[in-house]
Amino acid sequence: MIQKSLYEQVLDYANRANPYPLYAQLRQTPVTRQTDGSYVVSTYREIVSLLHDPRIGSDFRKLSVHNRPPAGLSTNKEPASKNQAPEAGTETSASNEGSETEVVPSFIGLDPPEHDRIRRQATWPFGPPHTPGRVADMESELICLANRQIDTMKGKSSIDIVEDFAYPIPVTMISELLGVPPEDQARLHALSEAIIEGIDLDPQKSQEERKRRQEQSGQTFKDLEQYMEALIERHRKHPGSDLLSGLITDYGPDGPMAQSDIVSTASLLLIAGHETTVNLITNGMLTLLRHPDALERLRRQPNLVIRLVEELLRYEPPVQILPNRVALADITIAGTIIQKGSPVILLLASGNRDPARFHDPDKFDPDRRDNMHLGFGSGIHYCYGAPLARLETQIALTELVRRLENPRLAYDPPPYRQSATLRGPRHLTVEIDGVR
Ligand code: HEM
Repeated sequence: MIQKSLYEQVLDYANRANPYPLYAQLRQTPVTRQTDGSYVVSTYREIVSLLHDPRIGSDFRKLSVHNRPPAGLSTNKEPASKNQAPEAGTETSASNEGSETEVVPSFIGLDPPEHDRIRRQATWPFGPPHTPGRVADMESELICLANRQIDTMKGKSSIDIVEDFAYPIPVTMISELLGVPPEDQARLHALSEAIIEGIDLDPQKSQEERKRRQEQSGQTFKDLEQYMEALIERHRKHPGSDLLSGLITDYGPDGPMAQSDIVSTASLLLIAGHETTVNLITNGMLTLLRHPDALERLRRQPNLVIRLVEELLRYEPPVQILPNRVALADITIAGTIIQKGSPVILLLASGNRDPARFHDPDKFDPDRRDNMHLGFGSGIHYCYGAPLARLETQIALTELVRRLENPRLAYDPPPYRQSATLRGPRHLTVEIDGVR
């Protein structure tokens, strides 16, 4: 039997509940080359250094030909006229010819200058004169939303934090932010979940099965984009105060966004603003229930929540892995040469537990002050939605511990979702004595 590499063991579902001992082993060698030619980076210093290195890109079209994913496995659409084609003509960059599924990613998968321009355009409706910003305005709405969800738990002795609580909050908020009508939210939630399913599939499954699932996920992505196109049309005719109307009508020095960029940005925001926050809220409740002292302190001192959520982003980050970087040049790091055109995989969650950076890293310490975690990434792709995600999670956890009477885990560990990249429980069953 072929021995699995440590990284393959991280991807193995059997290790989903606790990948941290594997990360510790991986950190013995900061950069390791996999048999498929990719490089896995596991130490804090090297991850941060690469996230800030212009020789590392996020555009998969720049992978060397033999490192490209098989055709049909992408979830993106045909090139937008405004976007530049990938670097061509170098020996390692992939040719576009003959690729019926040639793609232009949303800005998370683009490099400068396109990334920077679209990100600036997408950020503009949040800037002056809207400052201090749409997110701060959401605070009271979030408190109401969290409490409405908790009210539905009255009379129950057992609840599922994922379905009964963690999902409705981010889904409602990102939909309201974008101007998605309430009657469409359930459909969008289903589309987003189906797309996420295709992100990293069980390596145990056959190549055909994985290809089929990814094609399905790609088709669902097209459905989402079609929905967004129709929604944009409606907002063009009747603009409101939502972000989508802002992207259409309120533009700065970079000029109006191309239609294709609005579609890909809105789709990206919907997906990125979805599962990640669900997992942070759920990981948060799981961690608190495993640390009853911290739960009790949060109940008594709600102000603790700000530092506590930062510690969660370090200790149990929803985005564990950035699997999507590309070396744009040969890069020497930690004694290894990463070859141009190779995929580079950054283990954020491992960096967060690196003892060379964090004191006693395997301890959940809500009082931790020196906490430059990688939960939202770092560098030019640093999470665009971090202020919203923080606020949602702070309010969600504060209200849960305030109102649930004697919450306790029905079983531990809970069942996890398949994904090692976006890691979190599929269900989190909690027994309660009542709701205050
Ligand atoms: C990027 C984490 C919530 C929108 C990222 C990245 C991480 C991350 C690690 C960096 C990706 C990379 O470097 O390739 C999280 C976590 C969240 C969260 C842990 C919740 C707890 C949100 C929300 C939104 C959002 C609520 C939308 C409102 C984005 C976007 C990017 C991004 C658009 C791409 C930024 C760029 O490429 O410049 N996020 N995110 N995220 N996130 Fe989040």
